Amino acid sequence: MSYNISINKAEKSNLDKLDFDNIPLGTSFTDHMFICDYENGEWVNPRIMPMGLIPTHPAAMALHYGQAIFEGMKAYKNTGGEPMLFRPEQNAKRLNKSADRMGMPNVPEELFVEGLKELVSLEHNWIPPQQGSALYLRPFMYADEPFIGMRAATHYKFIIMASPAGPFFSKRIKLWAERQYIRAAHGGTGEAKAAGNYAAAIRPTELAKAKGYDQVLWLDAAEHRYIQEVGTMNIFFKIDGEFISPELDGSVLHGITRASVIDLLRDMDYKVSERKITIDEIKEASANGTLEEAFGTGTAVGIAYIQEIGMDEETIHVSDESPVGLEVNNKLNAIKIGDHEDKFGWMLRTRKELA
Ligand SMILES: Cc1ncc(COP(=O)(O)O)c(C=O)c1O
Repeated sequence: MSYNISINKAEKSNLDKLDFDNIPLGTSFTDHMFICDYENGEWVNPRIMPMGLIPTHPAAMALHYGQAIFEGMKAYKNTGGEPMLFRPEQNAKRLNKSADRMGMPNVPEELFVEGLKELVSLEHNWIPPQQGSALYLRPFMYADEPFIGMRAATHYKFIIMASPAGPFFSKRIKLWAERQYIRAAHGGTGEAKAAGNYAAAIRPTELAKAKGYDQVLWLDAAEHRYIQEVGTMNIFFKIDGEFISPELDGSVLHGITRASVIDLLRDMDYKVSERKITIDEIKEASANGTLEEAFGTGTAVGIAYIQEIGMDEETIHVSDESPVGLEVNNKLNAIKIGDHEDKFGWMLRTRKELA
């Protein structure tokens, strides 16, 4: 099915105000956004409009009851200068998984991908030219029905906005294994990319940063031992030659970078296990010298190498180097810009005439 997306172009572009050599983080937005409304049980009026404010009723249900979910992904320019999307259908599937958990309607996958393609085609000049840069894309959905009362809303907006992101250099990070606060419990909303999950993580993250750590390493809600994930990343450990990532048990976000890294590692003949893993196992592996490396994976950073983990009064040394993490990161980045064979078929062209 093809959607009839209307386009209302901005009178003037703000592109000339952007300094591509000094892109501010998360504060500049492209000239347009994609919007679609959910009314009477269907998505209507898909359109591209000039980026701007959206009138919101103070009783909009998302503001009170938290029906708000989002996605995060990037458009890259390949070596031929063509804008490309990385596995966008996976983001569409995950948005709908989040929607199911939060009692919200699904967005048809074709609408999600067509909205992205149309927006990125229009805004391709905003994709920064420097290697490692990208156009960050933020599809999101929220309940905009004005109503006081606890039930699923009947009106929603699905919006995609775009924000240029400068080159990101993976650095070594330090994690704080959080024993008091939790991110997700079994039966909760951990595997939904729901706004409320992030709100609940803000305070613990601030406390970890005040202690000198970069991110929180989340542990399970019941025993505070089983590792879940990190800030906005999934996590991998290499112990005695084998990679281990915590299993997707309902409390962990289904990271698209995580899934891609598992494919790449297996393709490189590494053994990868998705299983339960405790912080005690990491401590022991560090002590007996079998902990070889660890890294976080996510759209924003690609791969972030983990140097150490702080917990209670102690510090677990992880590693000073991540040779395999580095290799996988380089491979992933090369696939995204068309500099390495896309053998898994991950990249999608955005220009319809080229498709
Ligand atoms: C909580 C959380 N975990 C993991 C990830 C990594 O997911 P992805 O690789 O799809 O960006 C993210 C980022 O979206 C996240 O917010």
